[in-house]
Amino acid sequence: MSEIAREAGALIMGHFRRRVSIEYKGDADLVTIADRQSEDLIRERIRNRWPSHDILGEEKGLVDTGSEYRWYVDPLDGTTNFAHGFPVFCVSMALEHRGERIAGVVYDPTRDELFAAEKGSGALLNGEPMRVSLIHDLAECLVATGFPSRKRHKNPNIYFYHQLTLRTHGVRRAGSAALDLCYVASGRLDAFWEFNLNPWDTAAGVLIVQESGGRVTDFSGGKFNIDSRETLATNGAVHQILMREFQEIFAGRGLEAIADPRAYKREVSGSAKP
Ligand code: IPD
Ligand code: CA
Ligand code: CA
Repeated sequence: MSEIAREAGALIMGHFRRRVSIEYKGDADLVTIADRQSEDLIRERIRNRWPSHDILGEEKGLVDTGSEYRWYVDPLDGTTNFAHGFPVFCVSMALEHRGERIAGVVYDPTRDELFAAEKGSGALLNGEPMRVSLIHDLAECLVATGFPSRKRHKNPNIYFYHQLTLRTHGVRRAGSAALDLCYVASGRLDAFWEFNLNPWDTAAGVLIVQESGGRVTDFSGGKFNIDSRETLATNGAVHQILMREFQEIFAGRGLEAIADPRAYKREVSGSAKP
Protein backbone atom coordinates (compact mmCIF):
# COMPACT_ATOMS: atom_id res chain seq x y z
CA MET A 1 0.00 0.00 0.00
CA SER A 2 2.77 2.39 0.94
CA GLU A 3 4.54 1.75 -2.34
CA ILE A 4 1.40 2.47 -4.33
CA ALA A 5 0.62 5.63 -2.35
CA ARG A 6 4.17 6.90 -2.86
CA GLU A 7 3.98 6.21 -6.57
CA ALA A 8 0.66 8.09 -6.85
CA GLY A 9 2.14 10.93 -4.77
CA ALA A 10 5.07 11.24 -7.18
CA LEU A 11 2.66 11.39 -10.11
CA ILE A 12 0.68 14.16 -8.41
CA MET A 13 3.85 16.15 -7.64
CA GLY A 14 4.82 16.00 -11.33
CA HIS A 15 1.56 17.76 -12.17
CA PHE A 16 1.90 20.16 -9.23
CA ARG A 17 5.21 21.49 -10.52
CA ARG A 18 3.76 22.08 -13.98
CA ARG A 19 0.36 23.40 -12.72
CA VAL A 20 -2.75 21.94 -14.31
CA SER A 21 -6.06 23.29 -15.55
CA ILE A 22 -9.13 23.02 -13.37
CA GLU A 23 -12.41 21.33 -14.26
CA TYR A 24 -15.62 21.60 -12.24
CA LYS A 25 -17.73 18.76 -10.83
CA GLY A 26 -19.97 21.32 -9.10
CA ASP A 27 -20.00 25.04 -8.21
CA ALA A 28 -16.82 24.87 -6.17
CA ASP A 29 -16.05 21.18 -6.54
CA LEU A 30 -12.84 20.90 -8.54
CA VAL A 31 -11.13 18.03 -10.30
CA THR A 32 -7.90 17.87 -12.29
CA ILE A 33 -6.01 15.46 -14.49
CA ALA A 34 -3.89 14.62 -11.43
CA ASP A 35 -6.94 13.29 -9.54
CA ARG A 36 -7.90 11.08 -12.48
CA GLN A 37 -4.43 9.79 -13.31
CA SER A 38 -3.66 9.10 -9.67
CA GLU A 39 -6.84 7.03 -9.33
CA ASP A 40 -6.12 5.16 -12.58
CA LEU A 41 -2.64 4.30 -11.32
CA ILE A 42 -3.88 3.13 -7.92
CA ARG A 43 -6.67 1.04 -9.45
CA GLU A 44 -4.26 -0.60 -11.86
CA ARG A 45 -1.77 -1.46 -9.11
CA ILE A 46 -4.51 -2.91 -6.90
CA ARG A 47 -5.99 -4.89 -9.81
CA ASN A 48 -2.58 -6.34 -10.68
CA ARG A 49 -1.83 -7.54 -7.16
CA TRP A 50 -5.30 -8.25 -5.80
CA PRO A 51 -7.53 -8.78 -8.86
CA SER A 52 -10.58 -9.96 -6.90
CA HIS A 53 -10.76 -6.99 -4.49
CA ASP A 54 -13.52 -4.36 -4.73
CA ILE A 55 -12.54 -0.71 -5.09
CA LEU A 56 -14.41 2.47 -4.22
CA GLY A 57 -12.57 5.51 -5.55
CA GLU A 58 -13.74 9.11 -5.55
CA GLU A 59 -13.41 9.73 -9.27
CA LYS A 60 -14.37 6.37 -10.82
CA GLY A 61 -16.88 5.05 -8.29
CA LEU A 62 -17.41 1.51 -7.04
CA VAL A 63 -16.38 -1.79 -8.59
CA ASP A 64 -18.29 -4.36 -6.56
CA THR A 65 -17.76 -8.03 -7.29
CA GLY A 66 -18.89 -9.17 -3.86
CA SER A 67 -15.36 -9.59 -2.55
CA GLU A 68 -14.72 -9.67 1.23
CA TYR A 69 -12.08 -7.00 0.61
CA ARG A 70 -12.80 -3.43 -0.39
CA TRP A 71 -10.40 -0.54 -1.02
CA TYR A 72 -11.28 3.08 -0.37
CA VAL A 73 -9.24 5.44 -2.50
CA ASP A 74 -9.00 9.21 -2.44
CA PRO A 75 -6.44 9.69 -5.21
CA LEU A 76 -5.89 13.34 -4.27
CA ASP A 77 -7.32 14.74 -1.05
CA GLY A 78 -7.06 18.52 -1.06
CA THR A 79 -7.75 19.14 -4.76
CA THR A 80 -8.66 22.80 -4.23
CA ASN A 81 -5.29 23.39 -2.55
CA PHE A 82 -3.50 21.44 -5.26
CA ALA A 83 -5.18 23.38 -8.07
CA HIS A 84 -4.17 26.71 -6.52
CA GLY A 85 -0.58 25.74 -5.79
CA PHE A 86 -1.20 25.60 -2.01
CA PRO A 87 0.97 22.70 -0.85
CA VAL A 88 -1.40 20.76 1.42
CA PHE A 89 -2.74 17.57 -0.18
CA CYS A 90 -2.23 13.83 -0.07
CA VAL A 91 -3.13 10.37 -1.35
CA SER A 92 -5.36 8.28 0.91
CA MET A 93 -5.96 4.52 0.69
CA ALA A 94 -7.61 2.08 3.07
CA LEU A 95 -8.32 -1.63 2.94
CA GLU A 96 -11.45 -3.13 4.46
CA HIS A 97 -12.12 -6.79 5.21
CA ARG A 98 -15.70 -7.88 5.92
CA GLY A 99 -16.73 -4.34 6.75
CA GLU A 100 -13.77 -3.56 9.03
CA ARG A 101 -10.91 -1.32 7.98
CA ILE A 102 -7.71 -3.27 8.55
CA ALA A 103 -5.06 -1.03 6.99
CA GLY A 104 -4.70 2.59 5.96
CA VAL A 105 -2.06 4.77 4.36
CA VAL A 106 -1.97 8.54 3.81
CA TYR A 107 0.95 9.97 1.86
CA ASP A 108 1.80 13.67 1.77
CA PRO A 109 4.16 14.07 -1.21
CA THR A 110 4.94 17.73 -0.43
CA ARG A 111 6.68 16.77 2.83
CA ASP A 112 7.43 13.16 1.96
CA GLU A 113 5.44 12.02 5.01
CA LEU A 114 3.82 8.62 5.03
CA PHE A 115 1.25 7.89 7.73
CA ALA A 116 0.32 4.22 8.00
CA ALA A 117 -1.64 1.97 10.31
CA GLU A 118 -2.60 -1.65 10.51
CA LYS A 119 -5.48 -2.72 12.73
CA GLY A 120 -4.15 -3.78 16.12
CA SER A 121 -0.53 -2.95 15.31
CA GLY A 122 -0.34 0.80 15.96
CA ALA A 123 0.48 3.59 13.56
CA LEU A 124 3.67 4.90 12.01
CA LEU A 125 4.89 8.18 10.55
CA ASN A 126 7.74 7.46 8.15
CA GLY A 127 8.35 4.22 10.01
CA GLU A 128 8.39 5.74 13.51
CA PRO A 129 5.58 4.97 15.99
CA MET A 130 3.23 7.88 16.55
CA ARG A 131 0.81 8.83 19.32
CA VAL A 132 -1.91 11.39 19.84
CA SER A 133 -1.30 14.41 22.10
CA LEU A 134 -1.91 14.37 25.87
CA ILE A 135 -3.60 17.77 26.12
CA HIS A 136 -6.82 17.59 28.13
CA ASP A 137 -7.74 21.25 28.49
CA LEU A 138 -9.78 22.47 25.50
CA ALA A 139 -8.45 26.00 25.95
CA GLU A 140 -4.95 24.69 25.16
CA CYS A 141 -5.93 22.73 22.06
CA LEU A 142 -5.10 23.36 18.43
CA VAL A 143 -8.00 21.94 16.43
CA ALA A 144 -9.04 21.69 12.80
CA THR A 145 -12.09 21.44 10.63
CA GLY A 146 -13.12 21.62 7.00
CA PHE A 147 -15.97 22.84 4.85
CA PRO A 148 -17.45 20.75 2.05
CA SER A 149 -17.43 21.98 -1.52
CA ARG A 150 -20.94 20.63 -2.15
CA LYS A 151 -24.20 22.03 -0.71
CA ARG A 152 -22.22 24.82 0.92
CA HIS A 153 -25.32 26.79 1.91
CA LYS A 154 -26.64 23.90 3.98
CA ASN A 155 -23.59 23.61 6.21
CA PRO A 156 -23.81 25.06 9.75
CA ASN A 157 -20.12 24.59 10.46
CA ILE A 158 -19.29 28.28 10.58
CA TYR A 159 -20.99 28.39 14.02
CA PHE A 160 -18.79 25.57 15.24
CA TYR A 161 -15.75 27.26 13.74
CA HIS A 162 -16.58 30.49 15.54
CA GLN A 163 -17.27 28.95 18.95
CA LEU A 164 -14.20 26.75 18.87
CA THR A 165 -12.01 29.62 17.71
CA LEU A 166 -12.91 31.42 20.92
CA ARG A 167 -12.47 28.34 23.14
CA THR A 168 -9.14 26.93 21.90
CA HIS A 169 -5.69 28.09 20.80
CA GLY A 170 -7.13 28.16 17.30
CA VAL A 171 -8.93 26.34 14.51
CA ARG A 172 -7.11 25.40 11.30
CA ARG A 173 -8.87 24.81 7.99
CA ALA A 174 -6.05 23.45 5.91
CA GLY A 175 -8.13 21.73 3.21
CA SER A 176 -7.30 18.03 3.40
CA ALA A 177 -9.45 15.96 5.73
CA ALA A 178 -7.21 12.90 5.43
CA LEU A 179 -4.18 14.93 6.51
CA ASP A 180 -6.17 16.63 9.29
CA LEU A 181 -6.91 13.17 10.69
CA CYS A 182 -3.25 12.16 10.44
CA TYR A 183 -2.27 15.35 12.25
CA VAL A 184 -4.56 14.36 15.13
CA ALA A 185 -2.91 10.94 15.07
CA SER A 186 0.59 12.44 15.25
CA GLY A 187 -0.26 14.98 17.98
CA ARG A 188 0.13 18.07 15.77
CA LEU A 189 -3.58 18.68 16.28
CA ASP A 190 -5.66 17.72 19.31
CA ALA A 191 -8.98 17.35 17.49
CA PHE A 192 -10.66 17.51 14.10
CA TRP A 193 -14.30 17.54 13.06
CA GLU A 194 -16.20 17.87 9.84
CA PHE A 195 -19.74 17.42 8.48
CA ASN A 196 -20.53 15.26 5.46
CA LEU A 197 -17.22 13.70 4.62
CA ASN A 198 -17.16 10.78 2.22
CA PRO A 199 -15.83 7.25 2.87
CA TRP A 200 -12.69 7.88 0.80
CA ASP A 201 -11.87 10.97 2.91
CA THR A 202 -12.02 9.17 6.24
CA ALA A 203 -11.35 5.45 5.71
CA ALA A 204 -7.56 5.59 6.16
CA GLY A 205 -7.29 8.58 8.51
CA VAL A 206 -9.82 7.27 11.03
CA LEU A 207 -7.94 3.98 11.43
CA ILE A 208 -4.66 5.90 11.73
CA VAL A 209 -6.13 8.04 14.56
CA GLN A 210 -7.50 4.98 16.35
CA GLU A 211 -4.22 3.11 16.05
CA SER A 212 -2.41 6.16 17.46
CA GLY A 213 -4.52 6.02 20.62
CA GLY A 214 -7.15 8.57 19.57
CA ARG A 215 -10.92 8.34 19.47
CA VAL A 216 -13.31 8.78 16.55
CA THR A 217 -17.12 8.99 16.83
CA ASP A 218 -20.00 10.97 15.41
CA PHE A 219 -20.76 14.28 17.17
CA SER A 220 -22.89 12.54 19.82
CA GLY A 221 -20.36 9.88 20.73
CA GLY A 222 -22.02 7.22 18.53
CA LYS A 223 -19.87 4.65 16.77
CA PHE A 224 -18.17 6.06 13.69
CA ASN A 225 -19.03 4.10 10.60
CA ILE A 226 -17.80 4.63 7.08
CA ASP A 227 -21.04 6.33 5.98
CA SER A 228 -21.21 8.64 9.03
CA ARG A 229 -22.18 12.18 8.11
CA GLU A 230 -20.34 13.46 11.19
CA THR A 231 -16.68 12.88 12.03
CA LEU A 232 -15.20 13.84 15.38
CA ALA A 233 -11.60 12.68 15.90
CA THR A 234 -9.66 13.63 19.01
CA ASN A 235 -6.77 12.63 21.21
CA GLY A 236 -9.38 10.98 23.47
CA ALA A 237 -8.70 13.32 26.39
CA VAL A 238 -10.84 16.16 25.00
CA HIS A 239 -13.49 14.02 23.33
CA GLN A 240 -16.22 14.41 25.98
CA ILE A 241 -15.58 18.13 26.35
CA LEU A 242 -15.89 18.66 22.61
CA MET A 243 -19.05 16.57 22.38
CA ARG A 244 -20.58 18.72 25.12
CA GLU A 245 -19.57 21.88 23.26
CA PHE A 246 -21.18 20.52 20.11
CA GLN A 247 -24.42 19.69 21.95
CA GLU A 248 -24.53 23.23 23.29
CA ILE A 249 -23.95 24.67 19.81
CA PHE A 250 -26.66 22.45 18.26
CA ALA A 251 -29.04 23.59 21.00
CA GLY A 252 -28.05 27.23 20.46
CA ARG A 253 -26.97 27.56 24.11
CA GLY A 254 -24.12 29.75 25.28
CA LEU A 255 -23.23 30.89 21.76
CA GLU A 256 -20.72 33.70 21.65
CA ALA A 257 -22.15 36.50 19.53
CA ILE A 258 -20.42 37.08 16.21
CA ALA A 259 -19.15 40.67 16.18
CA ASP A 260 -21.29 42.87 13.95
CA PRO A 261 -19.25 44.25 11.04
CA ARG A 262 -21.44 47.39 10.85
CA ALA A 263 -20.77 48.15 14.52
CA TYR A 264 -17.06 47.59 13.90
CA LYS A 265 -17.11 50.00 10.96
CA ARG A 266 -18.99 52.64 12.96
CA GLU A 267 -16.54 52.35 15.83
CA VAL A 268 -13.50 52.56 13.56
CA SER A 269 -14.90 55.56 11.66
CA GLY A 270 -15.88 57.28 14.95
CA SER A 271 -12.40 56.90 16.39
CA ALA A 272 -10.62 57.90 13.17
CA LYS A 273 -8.23 60.80 13.62
CA PRO A 274 -9.03 63.88 11.53
C1 IPD B 1 -12.00 17.58 0.42
C2 IPD B 1 -10.96 17.87 1.48
C3 IPD B 1 -11.38 19.02 2.36
C4 IPD B 1 -12.73 18.79 2.98
C5 IPD B 1 -13.77 18.49 1.92
C6 IPD B 1 -13.33 17.30 1.06
P1 IPD B 1 -11.19 16.57 -1.93
O1 IPD B 1 -11.63 16.45 -0.37
O2 IPD B 1 -10.75 16.74 2.28
O3 IPD B 1 -10.48 19.22 3.42
O4 IPD B 1 -13.10 19.94 3.70
O5 IPD B 1 -14.99 18.17 2.58
O6 IPD B 1 -14.30 17.07 0.07
O7 IPD B 1 -12.41 16.98 -2.69
O8 IPD B 1 -10.09 17.56 -2.02
O9 IPD B 1 -10.76 15.17 -2.23
CA1 CA C 1 -11.23 14.05 -0.25
CA1 CA D 1 -10.21 13.76 -3.82
